Amino acid sequence: MKINYGLAGLGTIAKTHLLGLRNLPLLNVPVDFSINLKALYSTHPMENVETAKSCGFAEIVDTMEKLVSLEDLDVVDICTPNFLHCQQTLLAAQAGKHIYCEKPLANNSEQTKLMVEEVQKSNVVNQVAFVMRFNPAVASAHAAIKQGVIGRPYAFRGELLHSSYLMPEKAMTWRLQKNKSGGGALADLGIHLIDLVRFLLGEIHSVSCLTDTIVKQRKNSEGIFQQVDVDDWASLSLQVQGDVKGTIEASRLAVGNDANRMWIYGDKGSLFIDLDHNPYSPIFYDEKGQRIYPDSRFLANDPFYKRIVKLYPNSKLSQGFMVDTHLTSLLWFLSSVADGKILDHTPTFEEGHRAQLVLEAAYQSSSQNGSFVAVNPNQP
Ligand SMILES: NC(=O)c1ccc[n+]([C@@H]2O[C@H](COP(=O)([O-])OP(=O)(O)OC[C@H]3O[C@@H](n4cnc5c(N)ncnc54)[C@H](O)[C@@H]3O)[C@@H](O)[C@H]2O)c1
Repeated sequence: MKINYGLAGLGTIAKTHLLGLRNLPLLNVPVDFSINLKALYSTHPMENVETAKSCGFAEIVDTMEKLVSLEDLDVVDICTPNFLHCQQTLLAAQAGKHIYCEKPLANNSEQTKLMVEEVQKSNVVNQVAFVMRFNPAVASAHAAIKQGVIGRPYAFRGELLHSSYLMPEKAMTWRLQKNKSGGGALADLGIHLIDLVRFLLGEIHSVSCLTDTIVKQRKNSEGIFQQVDVDDWASLSLQVQGDVKGTIEASRLAVGNDANRMWIYGDKGSLFIDLDHNPYSPIFYDEKGQRIYPDSRFLANDPFYKRIVKLYPNSKLSQGFMVDTHLTSLLWFLSSVADGKILDHTPTFEEGHRAQLVLEAAYQSSSQNGSFVAVNPNQP
Protein backbone atom coordinates (compact mmCIF):
# COMPACT_ATOMS: atom_id res chain seq x y z
CA MET A 1 0.00 0.00 0.00
CA LYS A 2 1.24 3.50 -0.86
CA ILE A 3 0.45 6.23 1.69
CA ASN A 4 0.38 9.78 0.34
CA TYR A 5 1.90 11.94 3.06
CA GLY A 6 1.37 15.68 3.65
CA LEU A 7 3.46 17.74 6.04
CA ALA A 8 2.47 21.05 7.69
CA GLY A 9 5.49 23.14 8.74
CA LEU A 10 9.18 22.78 7.97
CA GLY A 11 10.77 23.69 11.30
CA THR A 12 13.04 21.58 13.50
CA ILE A 13 10.67 18.75 14.30
CA ALA A 14 9.34 18.47 10.74
CA LYS A 15 12.94 17.91 9.65
CA THR A 16 13.37 15.25 12.37
CA HIS A 17 10.32 13.46 10.93
CA LEU A 18 11.69 13.75 7.39
CA LEU A 19 15.15 12.44 8.38
CA GLY A 20 13.45 9.27 9.56
CA LEU A 21 10.89 8.87 6.78
CA ARG A 22 13.30 9.56 3.91
CA ASN A 23 15.80 6.99 5.17
CA LEU A 24 13.17 4.34 5.85
CA PRO A 25 14.10 2.22 2.79
CA LEU A 26 17.64 1.85 4.22
CA LEU A 27 16.63 0.78 7.72
CA ASN A 28 15.44 -2.82 7.22
CA VAL A 29 12.23 -1.99 9.08
CA PRO A 30 9.44 -4.44 8.12
CA VAL A 31 6.38 -2.38 7.16
CA ASP A 32 3.80 -3.28 4.55
CA PHE A 33 3.38 0.23 3.15
CA SER A 34 5.49 2.78 1.31
CA ILE A 35 5.41 6.51 1.89
CA ASN A 36 5.03 9.01 -0.90
CA LEU A 37 6.05 12.56 0.06
CA LYS A 38 3.08 14.11 -1.68
CA ALA A 39 2.90 17.72 -0.44
CA LEU A 40 4.37 20.21 1.98
CA TYR A 41 2.47 23.17 3.39
CA SER A 42 4.83 25.98 4.30
CA THR A 43 4.17 29.58 5.33
CA HIS A 44 7.34 30.44 3.42
CA PRO A 45 6.87 28.32 0.27
CA MET A 46 9.33 30.22 -1.90
CA GLU A 47 12.10 30.06 0.73
CA ASN A 48 11.51 26.34 1.16
CA VAL A 49 10.95 25.29 -2.42
CA GLU A 50 14.48 23.94 -3.01
CA THR A 51 14.48 22.00 0.29
CA ALA A 52 11.06 20.59 -0.46
CA LYS A 53 12.16 19.48 -3.92
CA SER A 54 15.38 17.93 -2.67
CA CYS A 55 13.43 16.04 0.01
CA GLY A 56 11.26 14.60 -2.75
CA PHE A 57 7.97 16.45 -2.16
CA ALA A 58 5.90 16.50 -5.32
CA GLU A 59 4.12 19.75 -4.39
CA ILE A 60 4.53 22.72 -2.10
CA VAL A 61 1.46 24.76 -1.13
CA ASP A 62 1.02 27.99 0.79
CA THR A 63 -2.15 27.33 2.79
CA MET A 64 -3.43 24.50 4.97
CA GLU A 65 -6.70 24.59 2.98
CA LYS A 66 -4.79 23.76 -0.21
CA LEU A 67 -2.94 20.92 1.51
CA VAL A 68 -6.06 19.20 2.82
CA SER A 69 -7.95 19.67 -0.45
CA LEU A 70 -5.47 17.46 -2.34
CA GLU A 71 -7.72 14.55 -3.20
CA ASP A 72 -5.31 11.65 -3.04
CA LEU A 73 -3.57 12.86 0.12
CA ASP A 74 -4.06 10.25 2.88
CA VAL A 75 -2.41 11.71 5.98
CA VAL A 76 -1.42 15.08 7.42
CA ASP A 77 1.51 15.43 9.81
CA ILE A 78 1.07 18.66 11.83
CA CYS A 79 4.47 20.12 12.84
CA THR A 80 3.51 23.75 13.45
CA PRO A 81 3.46 25.80 16.68
CA ASN A 82 0.94 24.61 19.26
CA PHE A 83 -1.62 27.40 18.77
CA LEU A 84 -2.18 26.28 15.17
CA HIS A 85 -2.80 22.58 15.87
CA CYS A 86 -6.53 22.89 16.60
CA GLN A 87 -7.54 24.87 13.55
CA GLN A 88 -5.34 22.72 11.28
CA THR A 89 -6.75 19.49 12.73
CA LEU A 90 -10.33 20.66 12.14
CA LEU A 91 -9.52 21.40 8.48
CA ALA A 92 -7.74 18.07 7.97
CA ALA A 93 -10.40 15.98 9.73
CA GLN A 94 -13.25 17.64 7.84
CA ALA A 95 -11.40 16.75 4.61
CA GLY A 96 -11.22 13.11 5.79
CA LYS A 97 -7.43 13.02 6.25
CA HIS A 98 -5.79 10.87 8.92
CA ILE A 99 -3.87 13.08 11.34
CA TYR A 100 -0.59 12.84 13.21
CA CYS A 101 -0.12 15.91 15.42
CA GLU A 102 2.88 17.08 17.38
CA LYS A 103 2.60 17.58 21.14
CA PRO A 104 1.18 19.17 23.16
CA LEU A 105 -2.03 18.51 21.25
CA ALA A 106 -3.07 22.18 21.48
CA ASN A 107 -2.98 25.29 23.68
CA ASN A 108 -5.80 24.38 26.06
CA SER A 109 -8.42 21.74 26.83
CA GLU A 110 -11.25 23.58 25.02
CA GLN A 111 -9.21 23.13 21.84
CA THR A 112 -8.14 19.52 22.58
CA LYS A 113 -11.77 18.57 23.29
CA LEU A 114 -12.89 20.07 19.96
CA MET A 115 -10.15 18.15 18.19
CA VAL A 116 -11.20 14.86 19.79
CA GLU A 117 -14.84 15.44 18.79
CA GLU A 118 -13.87 16.28 15.21
CA VAL A 119 -11.58 13.27 14.60
CA GLN A 120 -14.17 10.96 16.11
CA LYS A 121 -16.94 12.47 13.97
CA SER A 122 -14.81 12.23 10.83
CA ASN A 123 -13.64 8.73 11.80
CA VAL A 124 -10.01 9.39 10.91
CA VAL A 125 -6.96 7.72 12.42
CA ASN A 126 -5.40 10.13 14.91
CA GLN A 127 -2.25 10.09 17.00
CA VAL A 128 -0.44 12.69 19.08
CA ALA A 129 3.38 12.60 19.04
CA PHE A 130 3.90 11.31 22.56
CA VAL A 131 7.02 9.72 21.17
CA MET A 132 8.53 8.58 24.49
CA ARG A 133 6.26 5.53 24.36
CA PHE A 134 7.89 4.37 21.14
CA ASN A 135 11.21 2.81 22.06
CA PRO A 136 12.09 -0.68 23.32
CA ALA A 137 13.08 0.53 26.82
CA VAL A 138 9.66 2.02 27.57
CA ALA A 139 7.84 -0.85 25.83
CA SER A 140 9.82 -3.28 27.98
CA ALA A 141 9.03 -1.32 31.17
CA HIS A 142 5.35 -1.36 30.15
CA ALA A 143 5.40 -5.15 29.76
CA ALA A 144 7.41 -5.64 32.97
CA ILE A 145 5.00 -3.59 35.08
CA LYS A 146 2.02 -5.45 33.59
CA GLN A 147 3.66 -8.82 34.33
CA GLY A 148 4.57 -7.88 37.93
CA VAL A 149 8.34 -8.06 37.39
CA ILE A 150 8.88 -5.33 40.03
CA GLY A 151 5.79 -6.24 42.05
CA ARG A 152 3.24 -3.53 42.75
CA PRO A 153 4.56 -0.13 41.66
CA TYR A 154 4.20 2.39 44.47
CA ALA A 155 6.37 5.36 43.46
CA PHE A 156 8.18 6.99 40.54
CA ARG A 157 10.45 9.85 39.64
CA GLY A 158 10.72 11.29 36.11
CA GLU A 159 13.02 13.96 34.70
CA LEU A 160 13.07 15.67 31.32
CA LEU A 161 15.81 18.23 31.65
CA HIS A 162 17.11 20.49 28.87
CA SER A 163 19.53 23.33 29.34
CA SER A 164 19.84 25.75 26.43
CA TYR A 165 17.42 28.41 27.73
CA LEU A 166 19.76 29.77 30.42
CA MET A 167 21.63 31.62 27.68
CA PRO A 168 20.35 35.23 27.74
CA GLU A 169 21.00 35.60 24.00
CA LYS A 170 18.42 32.90 23.21
CA ALA A 171 15.78 34.85 21.24
CA MET A 172 12.07 35.29 21.96
CA THR A 173 10.05 32.71 19.98
CA TRP A 174 6.48 31.39 19.95
CA ARG A 175 7.59 28.84 22.62
CA LEU A 176 8.05 31.65 25.17
CA GLN A 177 4.63 33.23 24.56
CA LYS A 178 1.78 31.58 26.42
CA ASN A 179 -0.86 32.47 23.82
CA LYS A 180 1.15 30.57 21.19
CA SER A 181 2.55 27.67 23.22
CA GLY A 182 0.01 27.07 25.99
CA GLY A 183 2.86 26.95 28.54
CA GLY A 184 6.62 26.64 29.02
CA ALA A 185 8.89 23.78 30.07
CA LEU A 186 5.93 21.98 31.58
CA ALA A 187 3.78 22.11 28.43
CA ASP A 188 6.72 21.43 26.13
CA LEU A 189 8.71 18.78 28.06
CA GLY A 190 6.62 17.86 31.11
CA ILE A 191 3.77 16.73 28.86
CA HIS A 192 5.96 13.81 27.70
CA LEU A 193 6.42 12.69 31.33
CA ILE A 194 2.71 13.14 32.06
CA ASP A 195 2.02 10.81 29.15
CA LEU A 196 4.64 8.28 30.30
CA VAL A 197 3.17 8.18 33.81
CA ARG A 198 -0.34 7.68 32.40
CA PHE A 199 0.91 5.02 29.97
CA LEU A 200 3.05 3.05 32.41
CA LEU A 201 1.19 3.50 35.68
CA GLY A 202 -2.36 4.72 35.07
CA GLU A 203 -4.65 7.72 35.34
CA ILE A 204 -3.42 10.74 37.30
CA HIS A 205 -5.94 11.82 39.94
CA SER A 206 -4.41 14.94 41.43
CA VAL A 207 -1.38 17.15 41.10
CA SER A 208 0.63 19.66 43.07
CA CYS A 209 2.92 21.87 41.00
CA LEU A 210 5.51 24.60 41.45
CA THR A 211 6.88 26.54 38.47
CA ASP A 212 9.35 29.36 37.98
CA THR A 213 10.56 31.67 35.25
CA ILE A 214 14.22 32.46 35.77
CA VAL A 215 15.01 34.27 32.50
CA LYS A 216 12.21 36.82 32.42
CA GLN A 217 12.95 38.76 29.23
CA ARG A 218 14.17 37.87 25.74
CA LYS A 219 15.02 39.96 22.71
CA ASN A 220 12.61 39.62 19.79
CA SER A 221 13.68 39.65 16.13
CA GLU A 222 13.91 43.49 16.24
CA GLY A 223 16.26 43.35 19.22
CA ILE A 224 13.63 44.66 21.65
CA PHE A 225 13.25 42.96 25.05
CA GLN A 226 9.89 41.23 25.56
CA GLN A 227 8.46 39.68 28.70
CA VAL A 228 8.51 35.86 28.94
CA ASP A 229 5.14 34.72 30.30
CA VAL A 230 5.78 30.97 30.55
CA ASP A 231 7.67 28.77 33.02
CA ASP A 232 11.18 27.52 32.31
CA TRP A 233 11.18 25.10 35.26
CA ALA A 234 8.43 22.96 36.81
CA SER A 235 8.26 20.34 39.55
CA LEU A 236 5.16 18.21 40.10
CA SER A 237 3.95 15.74 42.69
CA LEU A 238 1.36 13.37 41.29
CA GLN A 239 -1.16 10.97 42.76
CA VAL A 240 -1.93 8.13 40.39
CA GLN A 241 -4.55 5.37 40.42
CA GLY A 242 -3.68 2.32 42.54
CA ASP A 243 -2.11 4.48 45.25
CA VAL A 244 1.02 5.24 43.21
CA LYS A 245 2.78 8.52 44.03
CA GLY A 246 5.69 10.30 42.43
CA THR A 247 7.37 13.40 41.10
CA ILE A 248 8.34 14.78 37.73
CA GLU A 249 10.63 17.66 36.88
CA ALA A 250 10.75 19.52 33.56
CA SER A 251 13.38 22.14 32.91
CA ARG A 252 14.95 24.15 30.12
CA LEU A 253 17.71 25.40 32.42
CA ALA A 254 19.38 22.26 33.80
CA VAL A 255 22.90 23.13 32.69
CA GLY A 256 25.26 20.22 33.23
CA ASN A 257 22.41 17.78 33.80
CA ASP A 258 20.49 17.20 30.55
CA ALA A 259 18.40 14.08 31.14
CA ASN A 260 15.47 12.02 29.94
CA ARG A 261 14.85 9.34 32.54
CA MET A 262 12.39 7.69 34.88
CA TRP A 263 12.69 5.48 37.95
CA ILE A 264 9.76 3.25 38.92
CA TYR A 265 9.80 1.59 42.35
CA GLY A 266 7.78 -1.52 43.15
CA ASP A 267 7.41 -3.64 46.27
CA LYS A 268 9.58 -6.41 44.70
CA GLY A 269 12.20 -4.32 42.90
CA SER A 270 12.62 -1.31 40.64
CA LEU A 271 13.34 -0.32 37.07
CA PHE A 272 15.26 2.59 35.63
CA ILE A 273 14.71 4.00 32.11
CA ASP A 274 17.52 6.22 30.83
CA LEU A 275 16.49 7.17 27.31
CA ASP A 276 19.50 9.38 26.52
CA HIS A 277 21.85 6.48 27.19
CA ASN A 278 19.90 3.30 26.55
CA PRO A 279 16.62 3.37 24.58
CA TYR A 280 16.80 -0.42 24.14
CA SER A 281 16.19 -1.64 27.68
CA PRO A 282 15.49 -0.46 31.22
CA ILE A 283 17.77 -1.56 34.05
CA PHE A 284 16.08 -3.84 36.62
CA TYR A 285 16.89 -4.29 40.32
CA ASP A 286 15.56 -6.85 42.79
CA GLU A 287 14.47 -6.21 46.40
CA LYS A 288 18.09 -6.51 47.58
CA GLY A 289 19.18 -3.76 45.20
CA GLN A 290 21.04 -6.25 42.96
CA ARG A 291 20.90 -5.64 39.23
CA ILE A 292 18.87 -8.43 37.60
CA TYR A 293 18.14 -9.62 34.07
CA PRO A 294 14.54 -10.91 34.26
CA ASP A 295 13.58 -13.97 32.25
CA SER A 296 12.63 -12.51 28.86
CA ARG A 297 9.37 -14.51 28.76
CA PHE A 298 7.64 -11.39 30.06
CA LEU A 299 8.47 -9.76 26.70
CA ALA A 300 7.76 -12.73 24.43
CA ASN A 301 3.99 -12.50 24.88
CA ASP A 302 3.67 -8.71 24.86
CA PRO A 303 2.26 -7.55 21.49
CA PHE A 304 3.17 -3.87 22.05
CA TYR A 305 6.82 -4.67 22.84
CA LYS A 306 7.06 -7.12 19.94
CA ARG A 307 5.82 -4.56 17.44
CA ILE A 308 8.04 -1.76 18.80
CA VAL A 309 11.26 -3.81 18.58
CA LYS A 310 10.47 -4.58 14.95
CA LEU A 311 9.90 -0.92 14.09
CA TYR A 312 12.72 0.66 16.12
CA PRO A 313 15.92 0.97 14.04
CA ASN A 314 18.72 -1.30 15.24
CA SER A 315 21.74 0.32 16.89
CA LYS A 316 23.94 0.08 13.79
CA LEU A 317 21.37 2.00 11.73
CA SER A 318 20.45 4.47 14.47
CA GLN A 319 20.13 8.15 13.56
CA GLY A 320 20.09 9.07 17.25
CA PHE A 321 17.34 8.80 19.84
CA MET A 322 15.28 11.75 18.55
CA VAL A 323 15.02 10.56 14.94
CA ASP A 324 14.65 6.87 15.88
CA THR A 325 11.86 7.44 18.37
CA HIS A 326 10.00 9.97 16.20
CA LEU A 327 10.26 7.59 13.25
CA THR A 328 8.93 4.65 15.28
CA SER A 329 6.01 6.76 16.49
CA LEU A 330 5.23 7.85 12.91
CA LEU A 331 5.46 4.26 11.66
CA TRP A 332 3.05 3.22 14.41
CA PHE A 333 0.57 5.82 13.13
CA LEU A 334 1.10 4.83 9.48
CA SER A 335 0.60 1.16 10.44
CA SER A 336 -2.79 2.13 11.90
CA VAL A 337 -3.62 3.90 8.62
CA ALA A 338 -2.51 0.88 6.59
CA ASP A 339 -4.45 -1.54 8.85
CA GLY A 340 -7.56 0.70 8.76
CA LYS A 341 -7.84 0.72 12.56
CA ILE A 342 -6.08 2.47 15.42
CA LEU A 343 -3.57 0.07 17.02
CA ASP A 344 -3.80 -0.68 20.76
CA HIS A 345 -1.74 1.64 22.99
CA THR A 346 -1.79 4.44 20.43
CA PRO A 347 -1.69 7.87 22.07
CA THR A 348 -4.86 9.08 20.36
CA PHE A 349 -6.14 12.64 20.53
CA GLU A 350 -8.32 11.46 23.43
CA GLU A 351 -5.07 10.68 25.30
CA GLY A 352 -3.70 14.07 24.27
CA HIS A 353 -6.81 15.68 25.77
CA ARG A 354 -6.43 13.77 29.04
CA ALA A 355 -2.77 14.78 29.30
CA GLN A 356 -3.88 18.39 28.66
CA LEU A 357 -6.29 18.18 31.62
CA VAL A 358 -3.39 17.11 33.87
CA LEU A 359 -1.31 20.00 32.51
CA GLU A 360 -4.07 22.50 33.28
CA ALA A 361 -4.58 21.13 36.80
CA ALA A 362 -0.80 21.53 37.29
CA TYR A 363 -0.84 25.17 36.16
CA GLN A 364 -3.84 25.80 38.40
CA SER A 365 -1.91 24.28 41.33
CA SER A 366 1.12 26.43 40.52
CA SER A 367 -1.09 29.56 40.70
CA GLN A 368 -2.25 28.35 44.15
CA ASN A 369 1.28 27.95 45.56
CA GLY A 370 1.36 24.22 44.89
CA SER A 371 -1.81 23.09 46.63
CA PHE A 372 -3.14 19.75 45.28
CA VAL A 373 -5.70 20.08 42.44
CA ALA A 374 -7.92 17.20 41.28
CA VAL A 375 -7.75 16.20 37.62
CA ASN A 376 -11.25 15.70 36.31
CA PRO A 377 -11.44 13.70 33.07
CA ASN A 378 -15.02 14.91 32.56
CA GLN A 379 -13.87 18.52 32.19
CA PRO A 380 -14.40 20.76 30.36
N1 LIG B 1 7.54 15.35 20.19
C1 LIG B 1 8.70 16.01 20.40
O1 LIG B 1 9.65 15.45 20.95
C2 LIG B 1 8.84 17.44 19.91
C3 LIG B 1 10.09 18.04 19.87
C4 LIG B 1 10.17 19.35 19.38
C5 LIG B 1 9.02 20.02 18.97
N2 LIG B 1 7.81 19.40 19.06
C6 LIG B 1 6.57 20.07 18.66
O2 LIG B 1 6.57 20.28 17.24
C7 LIG B 1 5.87 21.48 16.91
C8 LIG B 1 6.80 22.40 16.10
O3 LIG B 1 7.98 22.64 16.86
P1 LIG B 1 9.37 23.01 16.17
O4 LIG B 1 10.42 22.79 17.19
O5 LIG B 1 9.50 22.33 14.86
O6 LIG B 1 9.13 24.57 15.95
P2 LIG B 1 9.85 25.52 14.91
O7 LIG B 1 9.64 26.90 15.41
O8 LIG B 1 11.24 25.03 14.63
O9 LIG B 1 9.00 25.29 13.56
C9 LIG B 1 7.66 25.71 13.42
C10 LIG B 1 7.24 25.62 11.97
O10 LIG B 1 5.91 26.13 11.85
C11 LIG B 1 5.90 27.19 10.87
N3 LIG B 1 4.87 28.17 11.23
C12 LIG B 1 3.69 28.29 10.61
N4 LIG B 1 2.97 29.32 11.11
C13 LIG B 1 3.73 29.86 12.08
C14 LIG B 1 3.54 30.95 12.97
N5 LIG B 1 2.41 31.69 12.94
N6 LIG B 1 4.51 31.23 13.87
C15 LIG B 1 5.65 30.49 13.91
N7 LIG B 1 5.89 29.44 13.06
C16 LIG B 1 4.94 29.14 12.16
C17 LIG B 1 7.32 27.72 10.86
O11 LIG B 1 7.58 28.41 9.65
C18 LIG B 1 8.11 26.44 11.01
O12 LIG B 1 8.18 25.76 9.77
C19 LIG B 1 5.42 22.07 18.26
O13 LIG B 1 4.12 21.63 18.53
C20 LIG B 1 6.40 21.46 19.26
O14 LIG B 1 5.90 21.38 20.58
C21 LIG B 1 7.72 18.12 19.50
